[in-house]
Amino acid sequence: MKKKLLLLFVTICIQTISAQKESVAIAIKNDPAAPIINKNIYGHFAEHLGRCIYGGFFVGDTSKIPNTNGVRNDIIKALKDLKIPNLRWPGGCFADTYHWKDGVGPQNQRPTIVNQWWGGVTEDNSFGTHDFLNMCELLGAEPYLSGNVGSGTVQELADWVQYTNFGGKSPMSDLRKKNGRTEPWKVKYWGIGNEAWGCGGNMTADYYANEYRKFATFMSDWSNTGGLTRIASGANSSDYNWTETLMKNIPLNMLGGVGVHHYAVIDWNNKGADVAFTEKEYFLTMQSALKMEELVTKHAAIMDKYDPEKKVAMIVDEWGGWYDVQKGTNPGFLYQQNTMRDAVLAGATLNIFNNHADRVKMANLAQCVNVLQAVILTDKAKMITTPTYHVMKMYSVHQDAKLIPIEFKAPLYTFNGQSIPAVSASASKDANGLVHISLVNVDAINKNKVEIDVASLGAKNYTASIITASKLQDYNSFENPNKIVPAAFKSFENKKGKLEITIPPFSVLVLEGK
Ligand code: AHR
Repeated sequence: MKKKLLLLFVTICIQTISAQKESVAIAIKNDPAAPIINKNIYGHFAEHLGRCIYGGFFVGDTSKIPNTNGVRNDIIKALKDLKIPNLRWPGGCFADTYHWKDGVGPQNQRPTIVNQWWGGVTEDNSFGTHDFLNMCELLGAEPYLSGNVGSGTVQELADWVQYTNFGGKSPMSDLRKKNGRTEPWKVKYWGIGNEAWGCGGNMTADYYANEYRKFATFMSDWSNTGGLTRIASGANSSDYNWTETLMKNIPLNMLGGVGVHHYAVIDWNNKGADVAFTEKEYFLTMQSALKMEELVTKHAAIMDKYDPEKKVAMIVDEWGGWYDVQKGTNPGFLYQQNTMRDAVLAGATLNIFNNHADRVKMANLAQCVNVLQAVILTDKAKMITTPTYHVMKMYSVHQDAKLIPIEFKAPLYTFNGQSIPAVSASASKDANGLVHISLVNVDAINKNKVEIDVASLGAKNYTASIITASKLQDYNSFENPNKIVPAAFKSFENKKGKLEITIPPFSVLVLEGK
């Protein structure tokens, strides 16, 4: 009994000490040369995978679900509200199996395709180039097309560019016109293959660098996009040799961007549940997510060696949390729920991208609808937005704003003897002079106090919104779609230009100063 009481006393003491952690001072480093946070960092990804396209975005124009040319109106509205800047399509692994000519022309004459990577389902190609590019126009989003290098030809990709971008008379522009579109779409962003080290062809970095040079050579700009951004299929997470080889072997004038893919995953063989996860699994997910800081820093250092003027963009064209599929769903469809864990993951990752805006110019969350860390989930006629959606929306204020560099020593979130930074932050000033500071408390148990001396930023009055939940495992369901939504946050003080904020555990905050 005595032992038990002693243990209880020690536990209470530890909890009290950690609950009274010191305030973290976040220093503002005003820097007129700070970069603009490219809005494309807030990009999305739509692959032919599971219910992302078919049964997600695209229901067909004969569906009873309200749609525009077959694309759900509720999704169009939600993504416009999100200010979606760009959308990557058609994959992913699917891209290196996709032959775009099978997806143009009369829908009833299009050949089928078996989706070999994702569930082995047969698709009818009813959603193709016109459907995607017209949808991007509706969304006001820049399309980012991933070309087929793995099983495609140089001619096929060169033709795709001519088909979408050429304004004059040519075989491909004539075909486009015959298929109902007179004006070219002027697609700027082009991926040359996807995961060339894996599903895109299992190539070595040296071999791929040569393939890239060959494919890129025949992708003409057709002089109307202001310069194609040709993007190399990037490294798998910490494969720094991949980035080094591409930067060394591809002439910089052929290279608009280099990709990087990194998923927050506990263990590829045991990814853990989407909703019924433990604190240990939460910690490990966040540890993997926060590795993005190291990855971006190290890939950027390699790029700096070859491109000190930072002309080549780092494009993190796949990121997000990856868990075991929801029980009872097709394992090849990668459908998972989206909890408060995902909101924290998104907030912390986007802060990393913002803070590296000098090099990271685009990123694509995987994926937009019904797949992995989706911002939108659908169930027949129903559609809901996820906690990740709300974070992306709160953070959209950073799009095209000027980064305000900050510096602080993050307190630690410790679990089972391992520690990760508990607080993540980034800040920017937009064209109207509004200041935005986004803060994340990653810690699952403890609140964290921060102090920010904002006097030098000019803004006098601050308001804030927060996204949090009673449990990390909470999520928005089709029955309760607004369980997790942003709310006004008032528990902070502005003491003559010094903001004192207590951030609740597992929450994401955005402050706005005018
Ligand atoms: O996003 C799911 C898959 O993950 C993509 O198709 C592939 O590029 C990556 O391995």
